[in-house]
Amino acid sequence: MRKPILAGNWKMNKTPAEAVEFVRAIRPLIAKYPQVETVVCVPFVSLPAVADALAGVKVGVGAQNMHWAASGAYTGEVSAAMLKGLADYVIIGHSERRQYFGETDEGVNKKIKAALASGLVPILCVGEDLAQNEAGLTESWVSAQVRAAFADITAEQACGVVIAYEPIWAIGTGKTATSEVANRICGLVVRGTVAEIYGEEVAQQIRIQYGGSANEKNIAELMAMPDIDGALIGGASLKVESFVEMVRATAEQL
Ligand code: PGA
Repeated sequence: MRKPILAGNWKMNKTPAEAVEFVRAIRPLIAKYPQVETVVCVPFVSLPAVADALAGVKVGVGAQNMHWAASGAYTGEVSAAMLKGLADYVIIGHSERRQYFGETDEGVNKKIKAALASGLVPILCVGEDLAQNEAGLTESWVSAQVRAAFADITAEQACGVVIAYEPIWAIGTGKTATSEVANRICGLVVRGTVAEIYGEEVAQQIRIQYGGSANEKNIAELMAMPDIDGALIGGASLKVESFVEMVRATAEQL
């Protein structure tokens, strides 16, 4: 059985002091649900303090981006080697990175390779925008993103990647894909594409999250779906009560 994984994506929110306050608050509450893998993906500057506050606790720490090169003249960037020891996970190819910072499928593929080589768990984001959705292009677009992201990655490595299906029109908008639609894309399209590339065994192992206005009200319904193994949570991961409630509701389904 695939272990559910809930990851908070804080985006550009909370100072290091606020970050520590937050993780100290969730720490004892989330410890009650070891059956759910829980991660907080925090801004780079908060990683040292958050990693420290969560040392010895089963709450994973993640970054929200990284560069594919090991080091070099890339002003403002952070490499996988620099994240090692501070983070265990890294979000790669979030739609906001693709949209506002020009990230391409090719760059996403390079970043996944670099993350895997450093022992970080990539959380690969894929998803269509509203125009693509309305034009009926969701399946072909998402499938192509998955194929491009996994180019030249072995089956063994692929099992260690978490994929987040995030329809862009649902991110931060309060509009969630219905659990049936989310499940269909996660299952038929994302898992289906992984099966086409690597075979059914890998496809059954790989974990697929849904993201896009997931919150404490809709998480139970989403997690009840057979092909949804977790959630990548933006807004609702910033409040202690809603994040903990989402972990609790997920644990309750097991
Ligand atoms: P949201 O963000 O939960 O605020 O919609 C999700 C994400 O962007 O990962």
